[in-house]
Amino acid sequence: MAKSGRKAAFAALETHKKRLNKTPMREMFAADPARFEKFSARAGDILLDYSKNRIDADVMAALFDFARQVDLEARRDAMWGGEHINITEDRAVEHMALRYQGDKAVPIDGKDVMPDVRDVLGRMKVFSDQVRDGSIRGATGEQFTDVINIGIGGSDLGPAMVTLALAPYTRADLRVHYVSNVDGAHIHDTLKGLDPKRTMFIVASKTFTTDETMTNAATARKWIAEGVGEEGVSDHFAALSTNLPACDAFGIKQDRIFGFWDWVGGRYSVWSAIGLPIAIAVGFENFEKFLKGAAEMDAHFLSAPLEKNLPVIMGLIGVWYRNVWDFSTQAVLPYDQRLSRFAAYLQQQDMESNGKSVTLNGKQVDWSTGPIVWGEPGTNGQHAFYQLIHQGTDVIPCDFLIAANPHEHLPPHHAKLVANVLAQSEALMLGKTEDEVEAELKAQGLDKPRIKELTPHKVFPGNRPSNTIMYSKLTPETLGSLIALYEHKVFVQGTIWNVNSYDQWGVELGKQLAKALLPKVEGTASSEGHDSSTRGLLAYFHQLKSQ
Ligand code: F6P
Repeated sequence: MAKSGRKAAFAALETHKKRLNKTPMREMFAADPARFEKFSARAGDILLDYSKNRIDADVMAALFDFARQVDLEARRDAMWGGEHINITEDRAVEHMALRYQGDKAVPIDGKDVMPDVRDVLGRMKVFSDQVRDGSIRGATGEQFTDVINIGIGGSDLGPAMVTLALAPYTRADLRVHYVSNVDGAHIHDTLKGLDPKRTMFIVASKTFTTDETMTNAATARKWIAEGVGEEGVSDHFAALSTNLPACDAFGIKQDRIFGFWDWVGGRYSVWSAIGLPIAIAVGFENFEKFLKGAAEMDAHFLSAPLEKNLPVIMGLIGVWYRNVWDFSTQAVLPYDQRLSRFAAYLQQQDMESNGKSVTLNGKQVDWSTGPIVWGEPGTNGQHAFYQLIHQGTDVIPCDFLIAANPHEHLPPHHAKLVANVLAQSEALMLGKTEDEVEAELKAQGLDKPRIKELTPHKVFPGNRPSNTIMYSKLTPETLGSLIALYEHKVFVQGTIWNVNSYDQWGVELGKQLAKALLPKVEGTASSEGHDSSTRGLLAYFHQLKSQ
């Protein structure tokens, strides 16, 4: 679809906005008792309730139409078919192969990738089983009690988020930690109290060149060498990477190097060898269930009609808000403490994918692209930033996530959690009118002047949109499905916006400049040539350091 076609489609959606602007959601709910049935859909036991959005049947029809005009289904099939849809890096985008459960070939450039995928999974199973049962031990013969994954971005966020989310499946005697930041405080605080003889490191890096990871790995190597002796170092390391020669050069034993491929983007790599720390933490059977759950969402995405397709619906509603209503952020609010890293994970998945300003043809876009994604678990967020969501000047579409069943039997905790999540989406949608506030204050016995004074502060505008995603329990399968749901949503939006969701050139400039600045920070080169702010900051830094 040409750029002008997209512009026209966005413009056509504006007319729907004008119409909907006149009818708040509370009126649409009052007028249509079947609204929930009309605007909810399921994939497995995952229910998406999207009825509390500023939509009606005509809006949704226009959005599905838009998706068809941009050949969404053809592009989705091209991705699954192994085409190089990541055009700037000339790569296929085939993370779905990593969790594929069928027996068909998955070809990329004429070669079926499944034998290699299964080979690495098989090796991950053996290795994770052996670390868990103690048949793989440290150099001094002691069983590992702590495994530290060193990685950043996609080599950290996914496994770290999943390990936390699946805490009920972990063992108290085998702890998995994550170190990512080049800030020495991160590795320092993680190592505090740990025994090098019982600690294994996994160096996770797609490229095996990322400065943060290599710096942390060098510090870890030194710590192990000091603890068990230089000759024992290799017993305490494993590596996950596409750059096998670099792992070798680091001194990792061949049978502890787990590879993956350039058709796996870093932020889509949790399903690959990058998932090894998850398998160690929760057991390989649970890691397999996690892959299976994602595969179920893939099957849904690849086959369900657009009108019933969860990632498509969520993606299109996101486009509706971003491009037509100009809402610039998207909150993700899991009512699950164990999903406290979910928003951070989605930030990379979404913002590194769709934070782009040029089309696939290299032309400046004429429309907004990826939103700012953020969030925290409920109910904590309710006591922090929800005030702004309810009464602030920005409208923030929210995704609420909730399991029907908790892992622990601690009544009344879960019933309260569920009551809160339902209350929030209802409050955002309904709001509270002036009349309702006045009646409430009158019932409290307040006099007229005080009612007049207080009413504006207590009115909730309402008509604030949200999706609610409800599922039975946060199992490995469900978590796999949820992550895949968001991955495909990002794909849908990238297709509408006509951007390459699979590169990330925007992170390069900062990396280059940091490299150039390091000798100036270390005081071995002059700061000449930099702007006055950078020079001023460097000078003040050196002044503070020398005090
Ligand atoms: O921040 C850029 C980035 O390349 C991410 O896309 C990636 O997930 C992260 O750095 C880490 O890269 P690597 O796995 O190669 O160390």
